[in-house]
Amino acid sequence: MTNDKRAMSRRGVCRQLAAWMAASPLAAQLDLPYTGERVPAIDQLVNVFEFEPICKLRIPRQNYDYIAGGVDNEWSLRRNREAFDKITFRPRMLVNASNLDLSLDLFGTKMSCPILIAPTAGHNLATADGELATAKAAAETETVLILSTNSSQPYEKVAESTKFPKWFQLYPGPDLETTWARADRAKQAGYKVMVLTVDAGYNSHRERLLRNQVKAQVPAGVRSPQTEGRRRVREDEAPAAISRPAVYGLSTTLMHQLDWSFAEELKKRFGGPVLIKGILTGEDGALAVKRGMDGVIVSNHGARYLEYAPATIDVLPEVVEAVGGKIPVLIDSGFRRGTDVLKALALGAKAVCVGRPPLWGLGAFGADGCKRVMELLRTELALAMGLCGKATLKDIDKRVIHM
Ligand SMILES: Cc1cc2nc3c(=O)[nH]c(=O)nc-3n(C[C@H](O)[C@H](O)[C@H](O)COP(=O)(O)O)c2cc1C
Repeated sequence: MTNDKRAMSRRGVCRQLAAWMAASPLAAQLDLPYTGERVPAIDQLVNVFEFEPICKLRIPRQNYDYIAGGVDNEWSLRRNREAFDKITFRPRMLVNASNLDLSLDLFGTKMSCPILIAPTAGHNLATADGELATAKAAAETETVLILSTNSSQPYEKVAESTKFPKWFQLYPGPDLETTWARADRAKQAGYKVMVLTVDAGYNSHRERLLRNQVKAQVPAGVRSPQTEGRRRVREDEAPAAISRPAVYGLSTTLMHQLDWSFAEELKKRFGGPVLIKGILTGEDGALAVKRGMDGVIVSNHGARYLEYAPATIDVLPEVVEAVGGKIPVLIDSGFRRGTDVLKALALGAKAVCVGRPPLWGLGAFGADGCKRVMELLRTELALAMGLCGKATLKDIDKRVIHM
C-alpha cells in the first residue's frame, strides 16, 4: 500500500480522527481518558487532581488500586472530601496582605509552608527510585518527608540523599525487639522526629485489593527491605505479628496489643519529639498530652483502616480543644487543595500532611511530578490566604471560616 492509500484507509482515517480529538482542548472539557498519545505536559496541569489519571495510566493497575483504595464501601474515603464542602470563608477586605509568609518551624524543622508529605509505603510502586525521588522533591520545595517504616529504599540512603531534615514513621512489629531496633536505626540515620502510627492494629478490609487478588501477587516493591523477618504483608500494614494466634481469624499486628506505655517508652528511647498519628477523638488528644507526647496527627489513615471513621476535618475542633494548645495538632486525610489546608489551619491545625497527591505526582512524572504537586498546593494556600486578608500563619484563626 502506498502512503496515500494508507492515509485514506478507513482504519487510518479513524486513527487520525481519534488522535485529533484526543489532542483537542475539547477532550479535556469532555473528560476523555488520557491515552498514550495525549498526556499533557507537567506544566499544563492546573491542580493536583489532574496528576491522578496520568499516574493511573503510567503505573501497573494493581499499584494504582493499592494507592487509591479505601476500605469496605469507601464511605470514609468519600467523606474525607465531602466534609470540606460545608466550610466556607469569611474573607476580610482592605488588609495589607502583600507580604505573604507561609513558612513554619515545627520541632526545629524549618519548612517553606505548613504542608508535609505523609508517610506512605513503597514509593517504588509509583516510580523507580522510590523515596529517593520523593526526598529530592521534598528538599527542593523545603517540605518535610515523613519516611514510612515500609520505605522501599533503605532508611539511611534516604536520610543521606538530601540535607533537608526528614521525619520517620514507626510501625511496631513483628515483635518488640525488632521494633526497638528499627526505631534506633532511624535515630542513628538522623531522622529528627518520630511519628508513631497507632490506628493499624488489625489489618483492614481493602476490597479493591481483594478483588484484584493483589493478596496473592503482592505488587513489586511492597515487600520492604526494612522489615526483616516479617511475613509477606500488604502495603501500608505494620509488619504482621509472627506466631501470634489470630483473633477471630483476623490478621493483626503488634500494635493491637500495645498501649500508651509503649509510646512513653518510645519517647524515652528516641530522645527527640514523638508524634502520635491516627488520633480521632478529644479523649485521645488529651491522653497524648498527659502521656508527654510532643504532638498528634489527626488522621483516619486516608480512610484505609476503619470504615465510618469520621472525616478528619470534622473531628479536628474536638481534638484541638482537648489538647488546649499544649502540643501541636497536625492533620491528614483527604487534603487536595490549598483551601482545604486553610480550613484546617483556621480550625487550629498547625500543619497538614498529604498522602496520595505526592504519589500521583511520582507516578505521573517522577520527582518532578511530586515537586509540582507540592508547589501547586503551596501556591493555592498562598492565594487563599491572600484573598482572605491573612498574610501570615499567625493571622489565621477560626474567624477565617463559617462552619
Ligand atoms: C498508598 C498509601 C500507603 C500508606 N502507607 C502508610 C504507612 O506506611 N504508614 C502510615 O503511617 N500511613 C500510611 N498511609 C496513610 C498516610 O500516611 C496518610 O494518613 C493518608 O494517606 C492521608 O490521606 P490522603 O491520602 O487522602 O492524603 C498510607 C496511605 C496510602 C494512600
